Amino acid sequence: MTKEEKLLLLNQVFSPTTPIKQKDFFIGRLSQLTKIMDAINEEGQHAILYGERGVGKTSLANIMVPLYTNLFPTKITCTRDDNFKSLWLQAFNSIQFSTTTTGIGFNPQQKETIVSLGQHFSRIDTVAPSDIVNFIRNFNTTKFLFIFDEFDNITTKKTRASFADLIKSLSDNSDNVTIVLVGISDNVEDLIGNHQSLERCLKQVKMPRMTDEESSEIITNGLAKLDILISEKVKKNIIEFSSGFPHYVHLLCKYGAKEIISNEKNEFNQAYLQIAIKIGIENSNEQLRSSYQKAITDTNGNSKWKSVLHACAMSVSDQFDCFSVSQVLDKYNSMTGKKVKGGNISYNLNQLCLSERGDVLKKIGKGVNTRYRFINPMMKAFVKLKINCT
Ligand SMILES: Nc1ncnc2c1ncn2[C@@H]1O[C@H](COP(=O)(O)OP(=O)(O)O)[C@@H](O)[C@H]1O
Ligand SMILES: [Mg+2]
Repeated sequence: MTKEEKLLLLNQVFSPTTPIKQKDFFIGRLSQLTKIMDAINEEGQHAILYGERGVGKTSLANIMVPLYTNLFPTKITCTRDDNFKSLWLQAFNSIQFSTTTTGIGFNPQQKETIVSLGQHFSRIDTVAPSDIVNFIRNFNTTKFLFIFDEFDNITTKKTRASFADLIKSLSDNSDNVTIVLVGISDNVEDLIGNHQSLERCLKQVKMPRMTDEESSEIITNGLAKLDILISEKVKKNIIEFSSGFPHYVHLLCKYGAKEIISNEKNEFNQAYLQIAIKIGIENSNEQLRSSYQKAITDTNGNSKWKSVLHACAMSVSDQFDCFSVSQVLDKYNSMTGKKVKGGNISYNLNQLCLSERGDVLKKIGKGVNTRYRFINPMMKAFVKLKINCT
């Protein structure tokens, strides 16, 4: 491969900001994929895929679509402006088929027209769950799969309740359709509300952060395609920095590999990792960079804000990623060599929960039970990169 060919391939192999579209580049996630496929194959079952931002939900939804040849798969991305009708209109509009009609006269011509299922709904003012159930019933020899991604953008209670009603009703009445909802959430209730009637018909699939083995496979597979070698130690470092977010694995590998290919080298060593961290940070999400900047800014040039934030990212945390004042204090003192007391740090932690300080942390609990966590879990990984950027 020439240098130019490798640089071209690089963008396909490592894609930090675009979800995976092809199965060849999709790593791991077998258990989550199997659970969803089981739901699709089981009559009356639907599924909800939820998890943190950036763990790979859309990628999984993308690669699922072409796996099916015996059904009509449709993927819709929900926006804040969508409602029940607009979402189903998009869903049905994307299912197109051709019909042939015969003209009139002695020598009638066959005319082929493309029609979409959505035409039926565009004329109706309001669409209720029962309309969808009845409409789908007309096509009982066809199987449908509807995936609604970014369902967390649907915040109106009414639209969410309509989806809940629809799923329940489809589960009782239709065996030719599966709905898969996908969205950012810590739990299912936050996405669709508390509907006990959905318990049996909606399979809950949590998309966790990636395991070290899965992250490792992204690195090994991707770099092998580009003829680049990497030591176990550097690979381990990338996995640690990424904290289970495939986005960071792609980011660091992309910018490291780009530099290596440009220099016509073939080894991803510690020096290239340093370059990858630096360029990776510059190309990180704008929101993360600006929050970080707000959090650490000090008009007097005092570095305390920065040190407290760094201590938060490095401190011991519980299974929910929460940490206490004393845990941050321990880290702060060991990182700075100072001996400050808890009250002193509490002030900074509370301020870091405000928008003036970038909305970085969230405070949970009161008094002795006070805990903090990063609002955006990817921020923690970003801060760790910053600490290691020399
Ligand atoms: N299974 C996977 N294998 C390789 N890369 C992945 C995988 N899942 C996600 N990624 C990468 O991680 C990043 C975030 O994935 P995405 O699907 O957009 O996450 P989410 O929808 O959960 O926010 C993207 O850059 C994507 O290419
Ligand atoms: Mg997504």
